[in-house]
Formats: sequence, structure tokens, C-alpha cells
Amino acid sequence: MSLPAVVPAPTSIEAGSGAPFRLASTTVVKGDTDAATALSAIVEARTRLSLATGDGAVIELRVDAGSGAPESYRIAADEASVVVTGADAAGLFYGVQTLGQLIARDGDGWVLPAVTIEDAPRFAYRGLMLDVARHFHSVDTVRAYIDRGASLKFNALHLHLTDDQGWRIQLDSRPELTEKASGTSVGGGSVVGQGRGGGFYTKADYREIVEYAASRHMIVVPEIDMPGHTHAVGLAYPELTEAPTVSEHMRETIRDYGGEEPRTGTPYDGMAVGFSSLKIHDEATYDFVADVFGELAAMTPGPYLHFGGDESLSTTDDDFAVFVARASAIIADLGKTPVAWHEAGAAPDIADITIGQYWGFLTPQEGAAEKAIAFVDNGAQLILSPADAIYLDMQYPDLPGHGLTWANGPTSVERAYSWEPSDVVPGVDDSGILGIEAPLWTETIRTAADIDTMAFPRAAAAAEAAWSPATGTSELRTWASFRERVGALGPLWTSMGIGFHPSDEIPWATE
Ligand code: ACM
Repeated sequence: MSLPAVVPAPTSIEAGSGAPFRLASTTVVKGDTDAATALSAIVEARTRLSLATGDGAVIELRVDAGSGAPESYRIAADEASVVVTGADAAGLFYGVQTLGQLIARDGDGWVLPAVTIEDAPRFAYRGLMLDVARHFHSVDTVRAYIDRGASLKFNALHLHLTDDQGWRIQLDSRPELTEKASGTSVGGGSVVGQGRGGGFYTKADYREIVEYAASRHMIVVPEIDMPGHTHAVGLAYPELTEAPTVSEHMRETIRDYGGEEPRTGTPYDGMAVGFSSLKIHDEATYDFVADVFGELAAMTPGPYLHFGGDESLSTTDDDFAVFVARASAIIADLGKTPVAWHEAGAAPDIADITIGQYWGFLTPQEGAAEKAIAFVDNGAQLILSPADAIYLDMQYPDLPGHGLTWANGPTSVERAYSWEPSDVVPGVDDSGILGIEAPLWTETIRTAADIDTMAFPRAAAAAEAAWSPATGTSELRTWASFRERVGALGPLWTSMGIGFHPSDEIPWATE
């Protein structure tokens, strides 16, 4: 008998020999009420059955504190009963997500197969990133992305809140940022709701996102990108930014994608990078950094504040090092852990607790690995986001017209899947890896439907890199196994309203 399909692959799964557990309108769910609510929602979406509170066969959901590693769970299912035990509330929640994937049709009815699963995450940090700066995305879209991510056992939502094209988070200490720099996005225009007209989160919106994420066992990691990617800052506080530098790269981007050259005091709605910088030798800049991160720290219960640090191509190396040292120290002094893209590893005086986010290729190029290794040498860790594997905004080979191609051309589902985290940055093994994150940049991504298309199924490949055992240590951790398992999720995803790309690399199940 073939094993039931679970994504990300669990630590161990054994098919039972007996009959399956039958789901019916008399099936009772008992135990933890949050987990019962989560399970009832999945069962109802998939089967139209409402779980009961009467006296039928029982699905029991319980936390047995300390019964395993953090976020771990066990499932024991047979004909008579189903028991999901989490070592903590997050573990129980993940057990429920797995149970949702196990629901299968059986003639006119629905069953959960007889099975025993033991499961725990490989990495503590499992992230999705959404760029809400290039195109703004509503609170509803973010909530939907949280649900989707949590169903794959992601536990961090990184929001790229600011960039050259717009500032998306209201701050009382710096009100001009959203008053003057949030109204536009890539492509300009003014059709709000189509992602064209810009927008921002109020503090109440941000609180709602943080609380919703927490209810799905996710933290929010806010990013304010600095010292580059700051043209929008200059619309609000011109005294803080340098004049734009127009490079050959920028002229190339304009040739390829259109748009204008950036101009001081005018919103930028193109797709080029690397032309803006905060003023590095002006104390007003660090007052700004302290205000922004101080307020964000108070709004963000999670431990991480991300200060960007990528593609600061118009800041000199020496100035960049000065800025990174100061910004990382400001965040560390707030009691938070700074996170920065890997370029910041070049700064010798970066706060040594800073987590580096590697966004180079699977085979590192041009010094990227050395910069990433610097974080580990400092005693901190890396988040891996290899761009030619899990940048979810890269085109699929069979879907031209959606997404970009700069990261080694289009990214197939197989390429998104077929890599091993401990093989990416030479010398950095699991002890140096905090986790895995799949970013979704939105230069060309405007709607919730676009997000679904780009993220699914490739986000599932990233989830498996983040959660599942290392390649070579589990027979499930192969492309051949993954494509079958992820294909089996098609009907569940459809029932949950996830508009995945029906890639022809995957044998999609139809019911
Ligand atoms: C990045 O893709 N610039 C982090």
C-alpha cells in the first residue's frame, strides 16, 4: 500500500494495516478548542462535513507539553480513533494541517487512512516573504497568505515594507512617510485594489496582521530596507537621502522594462535598483533609524527586525560598513535581533548577533558566500533564500508572462525542490542555518491571484527544505516522491481556494 501524501515530508510515516477511519457527520472532535476549530475548517472545506460534538467515533486533539521537540507532533489513526498529540500548541496545529492533507475520498465518503506519523521540524525558522512595497497588498491578501503558509508549516512572515517605490507602514514618529511616500507603486497609476495605486498599513492593520499570524503560529518579521532602496524616504524627508545615482544597470533596466530615471522629489515607479542611499555621515539619519525601529520594535512581538542592506550600490563600501554597524547596533540595543541581507556581512563591525539572509544562487557567485559566512563566524546564523531555487517571483518555464528571469532564467518546480540547504554556502551546515525563507518580490505581481500562481506549488518545495529531513536521510526527500505528494494536494488546495499553477511537471490528482 502506498504511503499517504504529506507535504512537507514528515520525519516518519508508517501505513497501518487496518481499515481507515471514516469521517462522517457524526465524527466527534474533542480536545484543544483552537486546534478543533482549525481542523473543522479544513474538514468542512474539503468534505462539506461539519464535525459534531455528539457521541460518534472520536478525533482527539491534545497538547502533551514537552512530549517532543518544539513544534513536533504525533498522529495515530486507525479505524476506531484518531489521536493528534502536539508537544506544544504549534505542534498540535501542524498535526492538524497534516491531518487535513490525509483526508481522502472513499467511494461516496471520506476517510483518514490508518497511519502513524512522528514529525518535527528540521529548522526553527521557516519563512515566506512578501514584498508589499513594489505593489501594495491588502490586509486580506496578507491574511490569506498567512493561512496558506501555515498550512505548509511555515512559521514566519517577512514583510518587505519599504522600498524605492513606496513606504507601507504608518509610524506616529514619522507621519510624513505614509503621508507623502505611500501613494504609488511599480507602474504608477491610480487604480487602488489592482495593486497599482500604492497604499499602506495603518498601525491597526499591522496589529491585525501580527495577531492573525500569531493565531496561525507565525511571527511577523518587518523589513525596512536601508541604506539603499530608500528613494521613498526622500519624498518624505529629503534631507535624509542622497540624490539618485543613475548607473549603467539602471539604463539597462529602463531599456528592458521601460520607466523613467529616478528624480529627487518625484515618486519612482520603475523596476531598477541600487540608485538611492540614506546620508551616511549625518546624525539625522541615525535619529530616523532609531525612531523607525524603536516604534516598530514596540509593535512587533517577534524577535527579529530586518534592516535590509541589499544592493546598496550607490553607497561606498566604507560608508556601507559604517551604516550597517550603526543600524545593527540600534536594533540590538532595542532588545531585538537584527536581520540583514547577506551583503551586510561585509561590514566588519556589524552587531555580532545579526542574522544574515543569503539570497545568492545555489552556487554562490562573486563573494556572496564569504559575506554570508561572516555572520556564522560572528557566532550568528543564516536564513537561506537561494534566489535561483526559492525566489517565488521567478518565472515558471511553462508560464511566460508571470514574473522575472534574472536568477538563472525561469525556475522549474524541480529546481525549486532539488537542493540541499547544507550544500549551499560552503562550510555552513545545519548548526549555522537558522532556517529557510522563500521571498516573493512583486515588481510584476499585482493581485492575490498572481501571488497564488507564483507561490504554489513552489512554496511547498521551500517548505520541505525548511521542515523535512535532509536529502539523503529520508526516502521521501526526492523529487520523484515530492512531485507525487504535492500533486496529491491539488484537490485540497482547490477546496481551500488556492489558485496554484497547474505545472506540467506535477501529476495533479483530480479528487
Ligand atoms: C534582494 O533580492 N535584493 C534581496
